[in-house]
Amino acid sequence: MQINVENLSKTFSPGMPYETRALSNINCEIGDGEFVAIIGHTGSGKTTLVQHIAGLVQPDEGRVVATLKDGTQTVISEKGKAAFAVRRRVGIVFQYPEYQLFEETVLKDVCFWPPESSNGEDSPTASGSRPTRRRASRALSSCAA
Ligand SMILES: Nc1ncnc2c1ncn2[C@@H]1O[C@H](COP(=O)(O)OP(=O)(O)OP(=O)(O)O)[C@@H](O)[C@H]1O
Ligand SMILES: [Mg+2]
Repeated sequence: MQINVENLSKTFSPGMPYETRALSNINCEIGDGEFVAIIGHTGSGKTTLVQHIAGLVQPDEGRVVATLKDGTQTVISEKGKAAFAVRRRVGIVFQYPEYQLFEETVLKDVCFWPPESSNGEDSPTASGSRPTRRRASRALSSCAA
């Protein structure tokens, strides 16, 4: 999947005393399978940009478009548009894993399940158990493919 960021702008709290222009006319292209690092000083808008790419935030101007392997294009983020479908294809992991769900690592988060679904094999948070870790590792490997 290719991702194109087109003329993206975002202002938080417009018209308020704390109005912040987080993104100003951002353009970039992330090719299929490409690994890209976004760098910049604190408050420069990295997280805001990633949130737009994940379809979590709507821009004031511009859009984010995904081009799937079959050539079809889907708008991920555009003013006034909710992009529910593409959220199945674009995911983000948080800067601090402990803010993601409950645990300190992604593996432990994936190992977690609520008590009522426990089959007695493991306790709910038994990320140390071998079957749980094996299943979680398999799930994570399939995500990375
Ligand atoms: N939800 C929000 N409401 C109001 N202002 C926000 C919000 N999110 C971000 N901002 C502001 O937008 C600007 C960009 O913030 P952002 O978090 O995207 O920067 P960053 O590059 O990810 O910073 P850091 O390196 O600290 O993670 C900052 O001035 C921030 O205070
Ligand atoms: Mg950030």
